[in-house]
Amino acid sequence: MTIKERVLLGILQWWGPRGGVAQFHRPTGAVGHIAGWIMGRRSSNVARNRWAVRVLDVQPTDRVIELGCGPGVAVAALAGRATDGLVVGVDHSPVMIRQAGRRNRAAIRAGRVRLVHTPVESLSLGDGPFDAALAVNTVGMWPDPTARLREIGRLLRPGGRIAVVSQPRCPGATAATSEAAAGELAAQLTEAGFADLRTEMLALDPPVACVVGHVSPLSGRSSDEVQGAEPSTTPDHA
Ligand SMILES: C[S@@+](CC[C@H](N)C(=O)[O-])C[C@H]1O[C@@H](n2cnc3c(N)ncnc32)[C@H](O)[C@@H]1O
Repeated sequence: MTIKERVLLGILQWWGPRGGVAQFHRPTGAVGHIAGWIMGRRSSNVARNRWAVRVLDVQPTDRVIELGCGPGVAVAALAGRATDGLVVGVDHSPVMIRQAGRRNRAAIRAGRVRLVHTPVESLSLGDGPFDAALAVNTVGMWPDPTARLREIGRLLRPGGRIAVVSQPRCPGATAATSEAAAGELAAQLTEAGFADLRTEMLALDPPVACVVGHVSPLSGRSSDEVQGAEPSTTPDHA
């Protein structure tokens, strides 16, 4: 472990039980700035975010939305891949939106990244439909996560994909904790209407679970089209 890692870990161990955890749910003020600083530099956080972006398999022209983008580590990695597309980062913390803005200044100027200060429970974006969505260590903080995931599914194009990631940060978390988190995320995605699920694990301590799901390629089509019937020739006003 490097000296920087040891210092960060010491801060977290002291700070967590003293109210620090809340600052990772909704970073506010100067203390929230420190939470964002830690998330943007802790090697496991950075590795987790970059790995999640690789798992999502983002293509150059993809339009991607990241929910709960925090200090913008994944936004930067996404923008590095979606070079002819768009990355929209969403967070309910203005402190995080500012940090993500500083981390992604050039891509924002180039019009390839847009950051939106809003809670996921009241998303109203004009940038869709998206090809892919990402949420890293944030779904468990949302009110009614399954309902939120269902709404995100509606922002995706038919066949679009989502990667939902969890690295449990509770004291004593083990590989079993990560497995359980993966199971819970998979159940929520299924209930929210995603299909063709697969789970990948990154061997950190504790492991990172990433569940990838897909919107049906047939979503948004009428039942006639889905069954392969000829389109109706009856005029709409009949
Ligand atoms: C633990 S941090 C993870 C940040 C980032 N995804 C990462 O891995 O570095 C959780 C983030 O989710 C955001 N968040 C939590 N609940 C949210 C909500 N309901 N709407 C929008 N953002 C939310 C927090 O503000 C915070 O930035």
